[in-house]
Amino acid sequence: MHAVGIVAAAGSGLRLGVGRPKALVPLAGRPLVGWAVETLLTGGVDEVVVTAPAAEHEAVTAAVPAGARVVTGGATRTASVRAALAVVRPGTDAVLVHDAARPLTPPEVVARVLAALAAGAPAVVPVLPVIDTTVSVDASGLVTGTLPRAALRRVQTPQGFARAPLAAAYAALPEDAELTDDAAVVRAAGVPVATVEGHERAAKVTVAHDLALAELLVAR
Ligand code: CTP
Ligand code: MG
Repeated sequence: MHAVGIVAAAGSGLRLGVGRPKALVPLAGRPLVGWAVETLLTGGVDEVVVTAPAAEHEAVTAAVPAGARVVTGGATRTASVRAALAVVRPGTDAVLVHDAARPLTPPEVVARVLAALAAGAPAVVPVLPVIDTTVSVDASGLVTGTLPRAALRRVQTPQGFARAPLAAAYAALPEDAELTDDAAVVRAAGVPVATVEGHERAAKVTVAHDLALAELLVAR
């Protein structure tokens, strides 16, 4: 099975607020995108395509292992993944889409996703249970109900897909559509999405607290 990894790294990192694209922000001295590419390769992906902000093509190229291909991303994550998919060769069996913002994802998560694809799943996402009591509220913030947690999961990346249904789902998606992840894109096309166990270390770096936590984890 030939697997290509796509690393979405073309965002601006507004919520992290360090004044530069999040993928280039260092964790233990190394840009987040470098960590994300390495975990895909260590976990068993054969080649990697990275989406970079238009102005940061060179900086992203310098931050990832030689051999990783860098393409310019789009205005939304959906547009960025679409741009990367366009350079994935049709002979590819599997595509794993990962966030540069999840630098400490253990390679074992990548391996679990690849194993599910090898076993025949057309789409698979790593998930974790919801551990807090989860409620719904009305417009004024009053609690209206408690959600049945047993059926809820937190979804992480890398998300894995057989190449053909992923490409077909993106082709069927309106040009300006903006979905939060790739599993939503294939589900919109009717593809069933399986789950494997994720990992707390695959948490996304979104705000400053997350980066501080990641620095502590690396130092341990
Ligand atoms: N991403 C992308 N292209 C975009 C927007 C996001 O490739 N146009 C990538 C980001 O680089 C990130 C991942 O998608 O690795 C998840 O997005 P998010 O955590 O929202 O990152 P940013 O969009 O960079 O952050 P923010 O929303 O705070 O600006
Ligand atoms: Mg964003």
